[in-house]
Amino acid sequence: MAITPQNSIEWKRQKRAIVALTAWDYASAKLLDRAGVDLILVGDSLAMVVLGYETTLPLTLEEMLHHAKAVGRGIKNALMVVDLPFLTYQESPQQAIHSAGRILKETGARAVKLEGGYPAMAETVNRLVLAGIPVLGHLGLTPQSVHQLGYRKQGKSPEQGDRILKEAIAVQEAGAFAIVLEHIPAELARHITQQLAIPTIGIGAGPDCDGQILVTHDLLGLSDRQPPFAKVYASLQSVILDAVQQYAAQVRDRQFPDRE
Ligand code: KIV
Repeated sequence: MAITPQNSIEWKRQKRAIVALTAWDYASAKLLDRAGVDLILVGDSLAMVVLGYETTLPLTLEEMLHHAKAVGRGIKNALMVVDLPFLTYQESPQQAIHSAGRILKETGARAVKLEGGYPAMAETVNRLVLAGIPVLGHLGLTPQSVHQLGYRKQGKSPEQGDRILKEAIAVQEAGAFAIVLEHIPAELARHITQQLAIPTIGIGAGPDCDGQILVTHDLLGLSDRQPPFAKVYASLQSVILDAVQQYAAQVRDRQFPDRE
């Protein structure tokens, strides 16, 4: 059955962990969906992992739509969420509604994700929700602010932790259905998770969030460098290298294709 944002809130009450991963193409989205992943995020780390940009900042809405449409064609059950790329929502709530509206109309996504929780962003979340667009928040390390924050762990001081908690409450009150907490201390993530009625989905935020998300390329060992908090469950780089080298050797030795 197709998973909705409302399901994730019920799962928090039932203490059922939310399983989330990223996808950027039809084939991998279909596999993740078949494997029973609850939430598939077309994350804007697309920019670095798949498109080879240095940061997430250059990613355009058109590039995101192109990948999200492919992902949408591969999903039957998972809740599909698409990231709003940098500067496709920060200017005004109208800009956010326009960008998010295109994502929902054109890709099959049922929700969008956006970074930040300061008052203007909470207002944007609220305007999106009032327009019927479910929103997943994203706090802590927010990669679209890389030039302010770097990729460092956030919320280490009591003041910073307090600010992230206040932002989480503001994003919840604005109507978000869940919040991604990235690269913050586990104790802070646990405290925020306890304070919220909506689920938290952690990445580098310890074991006590209501769900976990990873970048699929990191989990599969397809990235050259993964963040310290990622767990590598398979080493597909070496599997692919081996297969391609075997193919190349067989073509060069004229062993492939055989006569039959
Ligand atoms: O774009 C991304 O990969 C993300 C992570 C939180 C999974 O937003």
